[in-house]
This record gives sequence, C-alpha cells and structure tokens, in this order.
Amino acid sequence: MFELLLVLLAIGFHLTSSSAQVKEIKLAQPSNIFILAGQSNMAGRGGVSGGVWDGNVPPECQSNLSILRLSANLTWEEAKEPLHKDIDVNKTNGVGPGMSFANSVLRRDPSLGRIGLVPCAIGGTKISQWERGTFLYNQLINRANVAVEGGGIIIAMLWYQGESDTINKKDALSYKKNLETFLTNVRADLRFPSLPIIQVALASGEGLFIDIVRQAQLGIKLPNVRCVDAKGLQLQKDDLHLTTESQVKLGQMLAGAFFEF
Ligand SMILES: *[C@@H]1O[C@H](CO)[C@@H](O)[C@H](O)[C@H]1NC(C)=O
Ligand SMILES: *[C@@H]1O[C@H](CO)[C@@H](O)[C@H](O)[C@H]1NC(C)=O
Ligand SMILES: *[C@@H]1O[C@H](CO)[C@@H](O)[C@H](O)[C@H]1NC(C)=O
Repeated sequence: MFELLLVLLAIGFHLTSSSAQVKEIKLAQPSNIFILAGQSNMAGRGGVSGGVWDGNVPPECQSNLSILRLSANLTWEEAKEPLHKDIDVNKTNGVGPGMSFANSVLRRDPSLGRIGLVPCAIGGTKISQWERGTFLYNQLINRANVAVEGGGIIIAMLWYQGESDTINKKDALSYKKNLETFLTNVRADLRFPSLPIIQVALASGEGLFIDIVRQAQLGIKLPNVRCVDAKGLQLQKDDLHLTTESQVKLGQMLAGAFFEF
C-alpha cells in the first residue's frame, strides 16, 4: 500500500514537473525583439479576398517555438499567421512580411535565439495618425516598452506605410518631413537614438501621388535607416495589397537588409 502511494506520488511529481516545463516554454521571453509597424501591407493582407483569408500559410511563414509575438493583451505567445489578427482588429488580416522575415532571420543567424515580434500596424492609416501623442504612436511605444520588460532588447523596427498618403498632394509633399520626425521621435522615446530601422518604399498606393511618397522614402538620410524597395512585387487584383507570395519575398528582403547593418 505504502509502495503504491510512493509510485503514485512519483507519477504525480513527474506530471507536475513536465507541465511546469511546458509552462516555462510558453512564458519564455524573447531575447531579440523587432517592432512591426505601418499600415495594411505590414499588417498583412496576403490571401485575403472579399473580406476572407484563405488560410494558406507558406512554409516560409510557419510558426516556430523560437518566434514569439506580443499579443494585444501584452503576453508572449508562439507567433502564427495572421500576425496582426488581434491588433488590426477592424480588418481581415492575412499574410504579411513578419513571419517570413523572422524565419529568414532565424535561419541565417540561429545565435539570435528566441525572436520576439511586436505587431503594431493598422490598415488605412496616414503618417499624421502616427504623430507623437496619437493613439497609434502611444500604442507602439507602450508595446515596445512592455516587450523589453523580460530582459530582451529591441534590435530593429520594420516600417511599411504611406499608401494612404498618396491621395492628397499635400500629404505626399509633407511625407518626408513627417516620416523623419516620426522615426526620430520613436528613437528618442525608446531611448535608443540609433535604433536600426528598415522601411519599405511603396509598391502601390491609394492615390495618384505614389512617386512623391516613394521618393521621400528612398531619400531618407537618417543614420541607421535602410530602405527596401517593394516596387515590382506582385499585387493582388485590388492593385494595392501584396500577394502572399510577394509578402514572403518582402520578408526575405527585409531580413537581407537587417543583416547589412
Ligand atoms: C492573451 O491573448 C491570447 C490570444 O492572443 C490568449 O491565448 C491568452 O490566453 C490571453 N492571455 C490573457 C492573460 O488574457
Ligand atoms: C475599430 O473600430 C472601432 C469602432 O469604430 C473604433 O473605436 C476602434 O478605434 C477601431 N480600432 C482600430 C484598431 O482601428
Ligand atoms: C525552427 O527554427 C530553427 C532554426 O532555424 C530550425 O532549426 C527548426 O527546424 C525550426 N523548426 C520548425 C518547426 O520549423
């Protein structure tokens, strides 16, 4: 009887310790963190048509226990498509560049350890909506600050936005100054003045002034800011959003740019 009790205790102990181990993996903190911000093509519309996502996750965008995401409720979980599902809540999200980027980074440099993604992009937003003090700006800074509480460090921000600033000429003409101010403010408020930033030059736009915004993006001269050009990547029928395949490619281009820092 006593022996049986010991055996039961041993089994119980074993079960407890293995579930504690699972919990530990789930709650583990990432060591190297990326902020993802911008509008719909960063949030991801790959595979979305008529307000429905097709659920297709290419191998390059698969989940991996070494890739975590900060969920909307500020807890870390294993990252999976669609990465912005609980952030860009008023839209149907699909595949963006984030998972392809993270898998590519991990493959090229496994020594980076566990990677953390902090999705912050919201579809349809203009650069003026990201001004210091706005909801979007504050949310980005707050999520970034929470992300490093577990001891990890932010190693870069990925930024893909500007389609909504191609509608009015005035927005397009002030884009360069507004983008520079935004990037400088983010760096100041994260107390990381040389934060590496990779921004994307537009592949598309909602209005006529795409070239003005693209020239602004390609002409940013701030130190430690790189630009990846999305022009030429295949678009969906809406002529605005990157396809899933294009997002995979863009993620890999962003990873390439990251390793050039
Ligand atoms: C946070 O959100 C995730 C889903 O994104 C969920 O799995 C988790 O239980 C939530 N955690 C808390 C503490 O609400
Ligand atoms: C979603 O829509 C609601 C209602 O219009 C609005 O209050 C909220 O700010 C929107 N959220 C985002 C992330 O756009
Ligand atoms: C996760 O990433 C690591 C590092 O690149 C890789 O060795 C492993 O095979 C990946 N796991 C899955 C399930 O893809």
